[in-house]
Amino acid sequence: MRVILLGPPGAGKGTQGRMLSSLAQVPEVASGDLLRAAVREKTALGREVADILARGDLVGDDTVVKLIEDRLNEPDAVGGFILDGFPRSLPQAELLDAMLTRRGIRIDRALAVMVPDAEIVKRISGRRTCRNCQTMYNVVLDPPRQAGVCEKCGGELYQREDDSEETVQHRLDVYNANTKPLLEYYSRAGILSQIDGMGTPADVEKRMVAALDGLVPK
Ligand code: AP5
Ligand code: MG
Repeated sequence: MRVILLGPPGAGKGTQGRMLSSLAQVPEVASGDLLRAAVREKTALGREVADILARGDLVGDDTVVKLIEDRLNEPDAVGGFILDGFPRSLPQAELLDAMLTRRGIRIDRALAVMVPDAEIVKRISGRRTCRNCQTMYNVVLDPPRQAGVCEKCGGELYQREDDSEETVQHRLDVYNANTKPLLEYYSRAGILSQIDGMGTPADVEKRMVAALDGLVPK
């Protein structure tokens, strides 16, 4: 199963990506998670991109494509993958197509998680992530049992640097200008499904699985 998750910031791509990953037993490859790990580990890439992430701008296409290509070369991604947050611009989509063609494979489905802007602001402002295992919570919509503490590993929950209200608005503008045109791109390729992202994560997952039409067990 080779799937792309599209949709605005905070729509639930990461939440759904992790659920689908455990259902389909293929890795979730999230460009944002890979970039944040590089920032955390203070690698050369991390130092190059830290300010870009904090501002909510896009990292350069060539840099992200290289990162994803390296990740897809790892053995666990050979049998399939769920791409979350990549591609995010038309040049990235074209470079991905070329990369997959070289490997003799193609994307089965692009799932776009659609959520209204007001809900995005609510979801993003409440998001907290575990520093240790990256599990996500939402202090408004899905609070952890003990404030600030991960239920899975006891790690500290933190708020992403790019989740301030002004930066979220900028990320939405960047999405509308650069990423939204990909809906048309994958619609023309005949592989786009737009998914209503409202309701509980389990509601949304049911719609995703239905759109995947036999690619994962129902
Ligand atoms: P990235 O990490 O990809 O951020 P994003 O696209 O802005 O998306 P988010 O991770 O904020 O949201 P999400 O859709 O994953 O939602 P989530 O499941 O967390 O990118 C960050 C930055 O990295 C970019 O700004 C850019 O700088 C750089 N970057 C990344 N990829 C790049 C690329 N390809 N090219 C260039 N630059 C790139 O959910 C949000 C919250 O809502 C959570 O609290 C969750 O618990 C809650 N929630 C989820 N679903 C539901 C539901 N159904 N009901 C209620 N609450 C829900
Ligand atoms: Mg995410």
